Amino acid sequence: MRVEIRPATPADWPAVWAFLQPVLAAGETYTYPQDIGEAEARAAWLVPLPWRAVVALDAERPVGIAKYGPNHPGRGSHVANASFVVDPAAGGRGVGRALAEHVLSAARTEGFRAMQFNAVVVTNPAVRLWQSLGFTILATIPEAFEHPTLGRVGMHVMHRFL
Ligand SMILES: CC(C)(COP(=O)(O)OP(=O)(O)OC[C@H]1O[C@@H](n2cnc3c(N)ncnc32)[C@H](O)[C@@H]1OP(=O)(O)O)[C@@H](O)C(=O)NCCC(=O)NCCS
Repeated sequence: MRVEIRPATPADWPAVWAFLQPVLAAGETYTYPQDIGEAEARAAWLVPLPWRAVVALDAERPVGIAKYGPNHPGRGSHVANASFVVDPAAGGRGVGRALAEHVLSAARTEGFRAMQFNAVVVTNPAVRLWQSLGFTILATIPEAFEHPTLGRVGMHVMHRFL
């Protein structure tokens, strides 16, 4: 599938929220409150600078969103952090990989020297995707995530240099 990726705009939000809300409500991959409201989610994903949000489009419709920016301010700000969600209806067709490759490349171009994920739930199939893109597991925080069906599972801190 051909994936176009461009900066997210306010006009993208309704289509993004339509797939983001069920993913966050499922509560299997992120630590956001499962009942997060639309305004809070919008603020968390249509992020202001120095963070950036991008969307992946299929036939001009947003089917994925990613955001990236400094993992820490000041003297930690050369290390990026990023988050990704793809519409499950468009999953497994390369959108997530394309978004991640775009974000890695853009972060490198913008001067970040590494990317760190702080909280990758160990049961998430995305762990393998991140590993295939060069991320390693630095540490696993035991029992850090209350999975809705599996109970308390670990969360990986993952990292790669750019
Ligand atoms: C993680 C996520 C962004 C991947 O998006 P996607 O468009 O489905 O991923 P892709 O189609 O690009 O697949 C990438 C690779 O991961 C694997 N993969 C992705 N999701 C998978 C799943 N649910 N089950 C099994 N494998 C999966 C694919 O096999 C694929 O491998 P390949 O490129 O070698 O064929 C998407 O599943 C998602 O939004 N998940 C919920 C939110 C989330 O977990 N975000 C990441 C938090 S760390």
